[in-house]
Amino acid sequence: MHPALNIIVKAARRASQIINRASLDIEHLQVTTKRQSDFVTEVDKAAEAAIIEILRDAYPEYGILAEESGEAVGNGDGSEYQWIIDPLDGTTNFIHGFPQYAISIALAHRGQVTQAAVYDTGRNELFTASKGGGAFLNERRIRVSKCLKLEDALIGTGFPYRVYDHIDAYLAIFKELARKTAGIRRPGAASLDLAYVACGRFDGFWEFGLSPWDIAGGALLISEAGGLIGDLAGNETYLQTGNVIAGNPRIFAQLLQAIDGHRTPGLRA
Ligand code: IPD
Ligand code: CA
Ligand code: CA
Repeated sequence: MHPALNIIVKAARRASQIINRASLDIEHLQVTTKRQSDFVTEVDKAAEAAIIEILRDAYPEYGILAEESGEAVGNGDGSEYQWIIDPLDGTTNFIHGFPQYAISIALAHRGQVTQAAVYDTGRNELFTASKGGGAFLNERRIRVSKCLKLEDALIGTGFPYRVYDHIDAYLAIFKELARKTAGIRRPGAASLDLAYVACGRFDGFWEFGLSPWDIAGGALLISEAGGLIGDLAGNETYLQTGNVIAGNPRIFAQLLQAIDGHRTPGLRA
């Protein structure tokens, strides 16, 4: 295993202890509202602090982009590297005791993700990938599905729930895909949705308005598992735009085409 991935896994396991312990006592969680429908708990913060401590200890010069504490630039050679961290993806699920949430940690080098882990702490499912080295679920190699047609495809998505600027376009896409696919699911943790594309549980996925820490880890899992991920134009700016289409290559192409007809001036990429 690449040394940086080893450290990522160590950090994810440390954070999982905090999350799993807290999951046994969710009635006593301290929940703060950041914005409407945007919650943070002391668990998100404690998990993030534990992750950063381990990453910093191993690579003190690397930059950091973390959901709860923001951005810190690296120094020297480390300024080319950035950890991208979502300490608890699926906080709304977590607060409700709905068992679908994960830790996502990625390492980017000059903006390209090279190492990643997405860890479903409740199920003990650890998804990892290194650029050029394949994607794994608990040591077992994973591949995207072989589904060929949208009509046979199970598709993941995330509903708009905080920002409603593109709700009409979203619902038009939803309507079309509800008719054209075998089913649509909204589990509620984007990093795991992407991991599920990587291991073939989902044939495809789309969501608008995500943040880099929701996407970075899962994006590498997908490309290392033989899938494709892109923005709404099929290009690589998804970490910047937050808009994501993903799938095995055949379903990716069909999703891209289905969504293309609903793009508005505010939803170009
Ligand atoms: C959220 C989850 C959700 C997605 C949201 C994200 P958080 O992350 O990934 O599936 O629909 O857009 O913000 O806030 O629970 O870390
Ligand atoms: Ca998230
Ligand atoms: Ca989060």
